[in-house]
Parts: sequence; C-alpha cells; structure tokens
Amino acid sequence: MTKEKFRALERNAARCAACIALAAALALPMLPRTEAAASPSGDGVLVAYFSLSGSVPEGADAVTHATPSIGSTEAAAREIAARTGGTLFAIRTERAYPERHDECSEIAEQEMRDDARPALASHVEGMENYGTVFVGYPIWWYAEPMAVRTFLEEYDFSGKTVVPFCTSLGAGVGRSVENIRELCPDSTVLRGVTLRTGSADFREPVEEWLKEIGIIQ
Ligand SMILES: Cc1cc2nc3c(=O)[nH]c(=O)nc-3n(C[C@H](O)[C@H](O)[C@H](O)COP(=O)(O)O)c2cc1C
Repeated sequence: MTKEKFRALERNAARCAACIALAAALALPMLPRTEAAASPSGDGVLVAYFSLSGSVPEGADAVTHATPSIGSTEAAAREIAARTGGTLFAIRTERAYPERHDECSEIAEQEMRDDARPALASHVEGMENYGTVFVGYPIWWYAEPMAVRTFLEEYDFSGKTVVPFCTSLGAGVGRSVENIRELCPDSTVLRGVTLRTGSADFREPVEEWLKEIGIIQ
C-alpha cells in the first residue's frame, strides 16, 4: 500500500470515529427517561411489611414463636430479612384496624371501594439507600390492603427492584402484583410469593422462592 493510500484510510477512519461520537451525543437525550434519570439507589435491602396482628417480641425467633398473636406477614418478613440481611420496616397506619375479622373486613372493603389511602404513622428514613425493597402484606379482599398503596406512593421507587410477598388463607399474590406494577411503572417488580397463613414454618417456601427469583443462591 502506498503512503498516500494509507493516509487516506487514516483520514477516513478519523472521520468515521467523529461521526460515531456525534451520533452517540445526539442519541443520548432520546434514551428513555427512566434510564437517563433514574434516582440513585444504594445496594441496601429493605423488607417493608404491613401486618394486622401484634409484633413478635424483641429478640424472638419469628418462626418458632409464630403464635396467633403474631402477624403472619411479620413472621414472613422476619424470615426474609434473616435470609437477605435486609432491614425490617413495619408499615403502620394512623388508624388502628379492629382485631375482629368481620369489622376489619367491612372497613377494608370500604377503603377499597373509596380507593382510599390510609395515612401512615411510620416512614422510611433514607429510602435512597435501598436498591431492593421487599413489600409484604396480608391479602385483604383478594388484593393488597390500601395502606400498601399509600406506602408505594410515598416514595420514588424508580430504578429500584420491588419484591412483593403476601400471606393469605388461600388467595394468591397475582392481583396485588399487577397493582404494584401499575403503581411502580419505573421499577423492576419481581415475581411475588404467596405464603399460607398458619403454615408452621415459612423457612422452606421463603428460601425456595428467594432462590428462584435470584436473590440468594
Ligand atoms: C380484612 C381481611 C380480609 C381478608 N381477605 C382475604 C382474602 O380475600 N383471601 C384470603 O385468602 N385471605 C384473606 N384474609 C386473611 C388474611 O390474608 C390472612 O389471615 C393473613 O395471613 C393475615 O396476615 P397478618 O397476620 O400479617 O395480618 C383476610 C383477612 C382480613 C383481616
């Protein structure tokens, strides 16, 4: 190859590189907003849960101490936190829901009909530190209690991984996961799990599910 030909090739290559750089600069603002503007998230894990019944005593093993006075969802949340090293967070409402099932059921149904957002009495500090947020709840009327919607609307979940889990007498997590996907359109919402109330031990199903969705190995 002659020197002239080699220089011509060099000039062409330099022009191509300049064109590629220009095209990339022009294309950048066209990227989807979520990719360009996702809020920064740390790599922490938060295990947030709403549970109607009382709390597990401090220091107690959630699973072996699971009695009717302990919220099933709280027991499940503790198991998940133990497995993932996550920080537990109880979603508490300002209003107290009645312990009696029929009374609570009536209120829950009314809140659903009203598309209510019950006010919360607990708030997460430093949500930006968490890249993965588990969200747990008992199934009420085949879906998530409305307080869970208040929680999901209170923070910016864009760019985060949201992992739903529920406890119930039989109803599945499916409808509530669809609702969560709608409420968190810019999050990665993983496959949720349904844990049966009264199950003596959440360890096995929790471990199996966490492995399936790739959270633990
Ligand atoms: C108001 C209300 C509505 C409920 N609706 C359902 C339902 O639609 N399907 C179901 O399988 N279980 C339903 N349950 C049962 C709860 O989902 C179940 O007992 C749950 O594990 C309770 O969790 P907790 O102890 O953490 O509050 C309902 C319970 C309440 C209090």
